[in-house]
Amino acid sequence: VAEPLGVTLLGCGTVGGAVARLLGEPRSRAAVERACGRRVELRHVVVRDPTRPRDGVDPDLVSDDARAALADPGIALVIEAMGGTDPTRGHLLDAFAAGKDVVTANKQLLARHGAELLEAAAAAGVRLRFEAAACGAVPVVRALRESFAAADVTLVEGIVNGTSNFILSSMAASGATYDEALAEATRLGYAEADPSEDVNGADAAAKIAILATVAFHARVAMDDVAYEGIDRIHADDLAYAREFGHVVKLLGRAELIDGRVLAMVSPALLAVGHPLASVGGSRNAVLVASPSAGEISLSGPGAGGRETASAIIGDVVSLLNARHEGPLERGEGYRSLERFPVEDRVGSFYVHVDVADRPGVLARVASAFGSADVSIRTVIQRGGVGGEEARLVLVTHPAAQRQVRAALDEIAAAPDLARGAPRALPVLT
Ligand code: NAP
Ligand code: HSE
Repeated sequence: VAEPLGVTLLGCGTVGGAVARLLGEPRSRAAVERACGRRVELRHVVVRDPTRPRDGVDPDLVSDDARAALADPGIALVIEAMGGTDPTRGHLLDAFAAGKDVVTANKQLLARHGAELLEAAAAAGVRLRFEAAACGAVPVVRALRESFAAADVTLVEGIVNGTSNFILSSMAASGATYDEALAEATRLGYAEADPSEDVNGADAAAKIAILATVAFHARVAMDDVAYEGIDRIHADDLAYAREFGHVVKLLGRAELIDGRVLAMVSPALLAVGHPLASVGGSRNAVLVASPSAGEISLSGPGAGGRETASAIIGDVVSLLNARHEGPLERGEGYRSLERFPVEDRVGSFYVHVDVADRPGVLARVASAFGSADVSIRTVIQRGGVGGEEARLVLVTHPAAQRQVRAALDEIAAAPDLARGAPRALPVLT
């Protein structure tokens, strides 16, 4: 059995706290162990105020002594969720010098000192991973780094700040004021410790610098990104945009134009049919384009403690699996899972049935659904299809597929009722 991997966690706020809880919960501990064949054990948690109780975190692990926590020979990995560039930059350099791999969520640090840190890690023979620094749980760094490694990417564009997107979506959808929406984004853990970075575009600019660096294999830093944020957008801009059939989004863009890098962040109007227009709340979405792979988009939760922690744990697993075989290669990595019968899946169904156009037919169809205990949400009847037939199109309330099937079988089995085979399609919401 492999030795457990000892970990030091720097920072135990929104993100670090979620990492500590994930590494402490039996279910997620087991998932991590299954994924990488090793136990991951939290040995130190470094914070500013060690006297404050922290939900789900063993108080014996908590201190403000970063130096000791980084030098401990019992740890091989440092997770950085402290934020800021100072003293964090020094902590990462110390970790590398002590031979520790590092996983970080810190986009400002990477966008300002990424080149130095990556070189220091390489010189020390350790690795630096930073999936959580870009788009929360969306694995865009991994996609650019691995899947698009040789694809000659020419464009990375998208919504990369969850807080701004949450504010714009809330203002447009529920008429929340800017201040109300920002307060809610902060309460939900989406915003930075200093939310001015979210709303003035600096957070998105840092992420665009990171994504451009990975996509173009070129050093693109924070200073290379021209940015503005949503802090000058007013509610009436959103209303006018809507009148023009558009929505306002904060867009980041990194593009190669004739061998030169264009990197920018700006609020922009998108036509309602644009693929990014419907990305709401704190979600992020990124479109990657290359001549060989075409256009690929990735989207998902872009902010939040648990979501970001999940990206951090993903990096930890990938570091461990880079040295060992992955769960698919190791026999014991496979779980023995029972199959869930598709007929037991519960959902709404669209049903299309042609029936004889006679009195009482609608009642008989309704009764078939009633006896299968399926409730009907909407029904449309069109009479006179092909002379003697009527068409019934209905949508059910959620029911198991086998119940809907039973109703359709009953209808199909009545030769004086059904004309042709009825069909049912799942309705996804
Ligand atoms: P946070 O809630 O403010 O937590 C920061 C933690 O670091 C706190 O536990 C704090 O200690 C500790 N800390 C800060 N400065 C320190 C210092 N000088 N010495 C010792 N401890 C220090 O911040 P967060 O939202 O978790 O963000 C952390 C990092 O993750 C940032 O780089 C952020 O950009 C990034 N990130 C956040 C999100 C998100 O959705 N929130 C998503 C992706 C990435 P105390 O608890 O004692 O104050
Ligand atoms: N504050 C950031 C955001 C967290 O709102 O997108 C995710 O990086």
